[in-house]
Amino acid sequence: MEKVCILGLGYIGLPTASLLAAKGFSVHGVDKNPKVVDAVNKSYPHIHEPGLSNLLESAVHSGNLMASLEPVHADIFIITVPSLITDEHLPDIAHIKEAIHAIAPYLTPGCLIIIETTVPVGTTEKIAGWLSQLRNDLIIPSMTSTVPKAGKEKQVFLAHCPERVSPGRTLIELVENSRVIGGIDQLSGQKAHMFYKRFVCGELFITNARTAELTKLAENSFRDVNIAFANELSLICANLGINVWELVKLANSHPRVSILDPGPGVGGHCLPKDSWFIKHAAPELSKIIHTARKINDCIPNEIIVQIKCKAACFQEPVIACLGLTYKSNTDDLRESPAIKIVKQLLDEKVGKILIIEPHINALPKTLAKHDRIKLVDLQEGLTQANLVVLLVAHDTFKNIGKNILKEKVVVDTRGMWL
Ligand SMILES: NC(=O)c1ccc[n+]([C@@H]2O[C@H](COP(=O)([O-])OP(=O)(O)OC[C@H]3O[C@@H](n4cnc5c(N)ncnc54)[C@H](O)[C@@H]3O)[C@@H](O)[C@H]2O)c1
Repeated sequence: MEKVCILGLGYIGLPTASLLAAKGFSVHGVDKNPKVVDAVNKSYPHIHEPGLSNLLESAVHSGNLMASLEPVHADIFIITVPSLITDEHLPDIAHIKEAIHAIAPYLTPGCLIIIETTVPVGTTEKIAGWLSQLRNDLIIPSMTSTVPKAGKEKQVFLAHCPERVSPGRTLIELVENSRVIGGIDQLSGQKAHMFYKRFVCGELFITNARTAELTKLAENSFRDVNIAFANELSLICANLGINVWELVKLANSHPRVSILDPGPGVGGHCLPKDSWFIKHAAPELSKIIHTARKINDCIPNEIIVQIKCKAACFQEPVIACLGLTYKSNTDDLRESPAIKIVKQLLDEKVGKILIIEPHINALPKTLAKHDRIKLVDLQEGLTQANLVVLLVAHDTFKNIGKNILKEKVVVDTRGMWL
């Protein structure tokens, strides 16, 4: 049984660890958060993901998955810790560096290290450099030189294979998506290919590490740019008195047009960050990517203006905000534009705020400290509010009766009820 050690048991690492355990690998999960380690060992999924609960339970009960704070010796190491950007929008790969330092003492000749985290271009080569310094008894391949024959038995393998799943469909997409495998050298790419072939039924494309790094960044900024186009159209439409949702529907009836949905901004852990990685790598050349990022960043402010304008109709506005997460049908609040909007409304003391978010049990700390906000259920929120703001298109909001909404002033940022 091959041993896999996965560092970072979050939205990506935990489903991956559970799936690999179910496929017969012996999996050792590592997280630096003791609460996560404890939850995993008790087969409690600390994140919401369809199908994960059952898979995790059988993985732990089979004995194929256990977690701890420290890595162990393994045949394959997978890094799924976060990459971040600083407040100045610069790449921050400190978590990855920490994870590489943690695994270094456990590497043995022939083992394979896979970086699944989205990273700035050049990171895999940087990792090879760190490993060469940490373990000068091993041969770490590089992109520019081949490993001499004499060093082959001391060689480890290194590849970047960016994760592409969409939360909410993670367990399906881990198996079905195509994957891009960027080896630091040819042999590393082939080794990683052999590993993914054992559980992925999508196509597996081998390339070099730098290309794989930029491929993932390009995928995410492609979406960011296209959402910015839709968001810019929504601003133009508002200015011209045109319904943007009708416009998008009509334009998309053209066989070669596929405009994305406008919304209240772009959130999540990936999209807002990855465009900055490209901008940082090629500041003078990434003009569209940078402009799109700035447009998406300013959209929450535009929505706040709309809400304040509608709230001004009431002496005592009671605003029901439907949804807080960064996208529909998830519990993930990271970088959510809905949170930015609600926080600004609280800071500016715009009415009383009722939050309806069926995927969370408590408000995030940044909001909970205010006294004019309450987490309520849908019925209470709709009964008490005079202004209803749809921020996230959760399925549960689809069936709100038109007769109920008719009695309210509505701001629908998702076009769900229009
Ligand atoms: N979430 C997504 O939708 C998604 C999709 C595709 C790719 N990715 C990539 O995967 C990366 C991870 O995303 P995520 O959503 O799983 O993050 P996450 O925050 O849900 O989980 C990361 C986990 O890593 C742990 N961690 C941090 N540093 C560590 C260390 N040094 N050693 C051990 N554990 C450590 C954290 O405690 C946390 O539990 C992202 O940065 C992104 O690049 C994410």
